[in-house]
Amino acid sequence: MCGIFGYIGPNNVVETTIKGLKKLEYRGYDSSGIAGIHDGKMLYNKQVGKISKMEAEVEQEGLELDIAIAQTRWATHGSPSRENAHPHFNNGQTLALVHNGIIENHSALRDMLLKKGVVFHSETDTEVIVHLISDLYRGDLLKAVMAALPLLKGSYALALIHRDYPDQIIGVSHESPLAVGIGIGEMFLASDLHAFTGSAREVIFLDSGEVAVVKKDGYEIYDSMMSPVSKESRELIGKAEEVTRGKFEHYTLKEIFEQPQALRSALSARCIDEYGTAKFDSLDIEMSELLGVKRIIILACGTSYYAGFIGEYMLEEIARIPTQVEISSEYRYKNPIIPNGTLVIAISQSGETADTLAAFRELKAKGATVIAICNVHDSSIAREADSCLYLRAGIEIGVCSTKAFTSQVAVISLFTLLLARMRHLSRDDGQVFLDQLKKVPDHVDAVLQQADAIQALAKKYAQCENFFYLGRRYMYPGAMEGALKLKEIAYINANGYPAGEMKHGPIALINQDCPTVALTGDQYTYEKILSNLMEVKARQGPVIAIAEEGSEGIEEIADDIIWIPSTRDEFSVIPATVACQLFAYYVALERGTEIDQPRNLAKSVTVE
Ligand code: G6P
Repeated sequence: MCGIFGYIGPNNVVETTIKGLKKLEYRGYDSSGIAGIHDGKMLYNKQVGKISKMEAEVEQEGLELDIAIAQTRWATHGSPSRENAHPHFNNGQTLALVHNGIIENHSALRDMLLKKGVVFHSETDTEVIVHLISDLYRGDLLKAVMAALPLLKGSYALALIHRDYPDQIIGVSHESPLAVGIGIGEMFLASDLHAFTGSAREVIFLDSGEVAVVKKDGYEIYDSMMSPVSKESRELIGKAEEVTRGKFEHYTLKEIFEQPQALRSALSARCIDEYGTAKFDSLDIEMSELLGVKRIIILACGTSYYAGFIGEYMLEEIARIPTQVEISSEYRYKNPIIPNGTLVIAISQSGETADTLAAFRELKAKGATVIAICNVHDSSIAREADSCLYLRAGIEIGVCSTKAFTSQVAVISLFTLLLARMRHLSRDDGQVFLDQLKKVPDHVDAVLQQADAIQALAKKYAQCENFFYLGRRYMYPGAMEGALKLKEIAYINANGYPAGEMKHGPIALINQDCPTVALTGDQYTYEKILSNLMEVKARQGPVIAIAEEGSEGIEEIADDIIWIPSTRDEFSVIPATVACQLFAYYVALERGTEIDQPRNLAKSVTVE
């Protein structure tokens, strides 16, 4: 989703800014733009499509800037077009502004500004902000910004520059992240730490409501009352980590293949074999509080929601704690009852998903303890939670989540074990659980070795326009995740369903052109899903099974089978979804869709 980058310093400003902006490409966007000041003039370039298009044009026209702000836009208000791309300008083109988030009262503000004679050039909600600040400007930019902010309703991270202040960028954060990057004699602003890779050495996160005035050799931070705030900077972790695709054609494929390693690192130093339990160094919650947990609410969106769904099954079954997984965007508008002993787990790869952040803030305000499961260090959710259990999967660039999902399931498994061992689970049973969990990376390896066979299968089915993905128990969220992969990167209509529900309606859609991918690895319900698949076969529906080695009876039903190693029901979903990821990837490759940055999608969804 939208990304902001700003630069002021001695290096080539255009190059540095575009380089930083490119690091935000992975978030998903449909247009981009840069604006800056040079020799007292406000100059800019905006383009629809990839940043490289803008880069080529600014190179050709020889754009030079002394200070710059830039943005990647993921369209919300108004289609992707040059007019709607950021930065936006006031009528005199003295002020330029980029924005992440949504201004909810933009219509009222637009009407008010129109009455004052302001001319609008875009359909965006953002444009009202720049005109509003301009309208309030009486020679003191900071004062004008401060006066405008209380009039804005919604979420926003802003970066802005003014011709009268050619040596400063103002940054604002309000329920949308923005960080100040500190270098030597140079300063940066970005909405995502990844943009600082290889540049800034230290970082300061703005808290919601804070405003930063950034100059080449320093910065000042103010609260909403315009009082100066003193904040400590932090050293950037992994600042030198430059990520490349290596030998892989896409980041997505690379990340699929990184899963054995990512899983090992999620488990590393967290297993206590001797006692058959788990530990998390970052879990800063008293054991007595964990022992007192009577109910768990898991909040998440998208792929993380499916990982949470698996967590729901596991926590109830193994730790025997009533657990409910909730889609954050729905949950945030409920008025839930949070009795004492409620633990909230927020799962988010990016740690920035606006809905999950809002839902979890609400529960925190109601007094619940919140544990985050995140991949991105120092992300908003990770920082605001009482404790964060990091995935340690390494940065995930592909918009569709792969290695983060399987790592999420691994971390939830360990957390389940910890809670279960504090309750009734015996040491022996805990040891068996751990032993099996530690074999999962090898099981994933075994699936990856079948990549060629899965590619052949993908070619066979790539022309189908509708798919069902079926599973039962642990495989039900696995089926929904498998279907989501196919939707996201191959743009195919795929429905994930609990197999037992097919007869209540969806089976009407089955015919010879609608294949069913069946995740049959849940042994407890294995016989049941075989019957459900017989019903599909009876209606000429092709069946592709993802079955555990040694499963009997599936060969007679399925048209094609991807074999996965046999393991406990809780963990079988991991190799099964890896098979789904590969299948979706190769179908997408066959159909020629954009895989790493699929159309319309964003990696980090920072708006509602
Ligand atoms: C977007 C991404 C998905 C992701 C979801 C939740 O839709 O494209 O891959 O699962 O957001 O993101 P989170 O960062 O909270 O896990």
